[in-house]
Amino acid sequence: INKITIAIDGFSSTGKSTLAKQLAQQLGYIYVDTGAMYRAVAFFAMQNQYISIDSFNKVELVNHLKNISLEFKFNNELGFAEMYLNGQNVEKEIRTIEVSAYVSKVAEVSEVRSKLVEQQQEMGKNKGIVMDGRDIGTVVFPDAELKIFMTASAATRAQRRFDELVQKGDAVTYEEVLKNVEERDYIDTHRKDSPLVMAEDAVEIDNSHLSREEQFQVVLDLVNAII
Ligand code: C5P
Repeated sequence: INKITIAIDGFSSTGKSTLAKQLAQQLGYIYVDTGAMYRAVAFFAMQNQYISIDSFNKVELVNHLKNISLEFKFNNELGFAEMYLNGQNVEKEIRTIEVSAYVSKVAEVSEVRSKLVEQQQEMGKNKGIVMDGRDIGTVVFPDAELKIFMTASAATRAQRRFDELVQKGDAVTYEEVLKNVEERDYIDTHRKDSPLVMAEDAVEIDNSHLSREEQFQVVLDLVNAII
């Protein structure tokens, strides 16, 4: 069969990764969560005190980008790949509200973006890949055979993220999560380099009122029309 590239973009917490994982599993494709890569760089910046509440030393971060090695390793038990930063599994560390608070600022830095985009293009060079992020259909794989753009209201997304964090035992409030979602939306859509926009040839899916199964079926039909 014909292997294709599937690009899934959209705002934070629209369920991009859930859909991407389902598709990859169904099709036997590789799944790449590019948000995890930006989160790992943000975590690196936090660990080295290049970023904190009141300061961000971009020059230092850029100078040390060469010391960052990012790798996805498949976890057979979980059935998906986990993020490794310089050989250390950081899957838990990168999902905290602190990392969420800094990641969009780190993702504005052009040198960070070009390093990660290059690695993403390398991972997708043989197709058979589902990649989710903000710029996959516009910048990373402008020639992807299928591009999906996912949306849902900020309140719906904040509620989903809040439920997730609470389930993990994080002490957060709904207001805090909503504020973070709105802040990231703003930075992601207003940055100079690769702002979040829908590719002209993308299919928009608003999943505010779709179940996971319904959404999966809609996209699977789109895939089957291509392959
Ligand atoms: O997808 P996730 O919410 O984990 O992404 C975290 C952040 O990483 C986003 O808010 C965005 O600032 C950045 N990002 C990006 N480009 C991507 C993926 C993520 O700028 N392709």
